[in-house]
Amino acid sequence: MIDVVVVSRNDEAQDICSYELANADDSPLPAFSAGAHIDVHLPGGLIRQYSLCNHPEERHRYLIGVLKDPTSRGGSLAMHEQIHPGTRLTISEPRNLFPLAHEARRSLLFAGGIGITPILCMAERLAHSGADFELHYCARSRERAAFVQRLCSSSFADRVFLHFDQEPETALDAAKVLATPRNDVHLYVCGPGGFMQHVLDTAKAAGWQEPCLHREYFAAVPVDTRADGSFSVKVASSGQVFAVPADKSVVQVLESHGIDIAMSCEQGICGTCLTRVLEGVPEHRDLFLTEDEQARNDQFTPCCSRSKTPLLVLDI
Ligand code: FES
Repeated sequence: MIDVVVVSRNDEAQDICSYELANADDSPLPAFSAGAHIDVHLPGGLIRQYSLCNHPEERHRYLIGVLKDPTSRGGSLAMHEQIHPGTRLTISEPRNLFPLAHEARRSLLFAGGIGITPILCMAERLAHSGADFELHYCARSRERAAFVQRLCSSSFADRVFLHFDQEPETALDAAKVLATPRNDVHLYVCGPGGFMQHVLDTAKAAGWQEPCLHREYFAAVPVDTRADGSFSVKVASSGQVFAVPADKSVVQVLESHGIDIAMSCEQGICGTCLTRVLEGVPEHRDLFLTEDEQARNDQFTPCCSRSKTPLLVLDI
């Protein structure tokens, strides 16, 4: 854990603020790589993940961008309403679940809305190393597009393509951009679920292979829980068996029996709660594991995933 202080806060676009964080004791912050995020511990006990969007060579600060989301579960509102210059916060060390594949000959970066934050950092890194890339940034309007000034005045401005819903002539033609899949070209996408689905579906339809596709989700995709049933989990180390009713998660049930599993996002995105499964077949509801990893059924995210079999035996 790192104690930081908010050095500055800036309006970057309509409903998007950036926050500059520095170590509370003025020492350099831990190094990070493009695509990394930090957990921010917010007032009231919430923990939220925010991508770092400053240049990854910097050690004197972390920069995060936060969208004020009306559908927020409380995190973005807390950031916008309660976090100001001078506020002290606790954050985790940077963690990268969305790293660049440095062996790529060329990179295609796709950002939708606030998804620009990790993508911006990637673009800075790629430009710094002289790599070949282009960046497509989609937003509803210019007013809602953050960091446009920074992009347009950057050394790589000629490789940035802006697409605004309200300016149809700028629309992204994903099929055209993704028309020629290659094993040495890598695609990165971050943004709202529908946008990500569109880019990834277009890529797959054009023949792009999974190892070349990289994504980072900000929010879980809604799941229909009406048909959820109950099942049981067995703690392998003690042999205890607990019933998981339809309206409770595995983590909630274990917690109520004094068994704590570390959690962060609580929605299957971050992988913090990942737990090994020794017997039984999980019903995966996370966006963290790859399709191949899910198919192995030897681990799952108990914050949101459930079970296809009456019993799951967990390696805890
Ligand atoms: Fe983030 Fe479970 S807490 S995946």
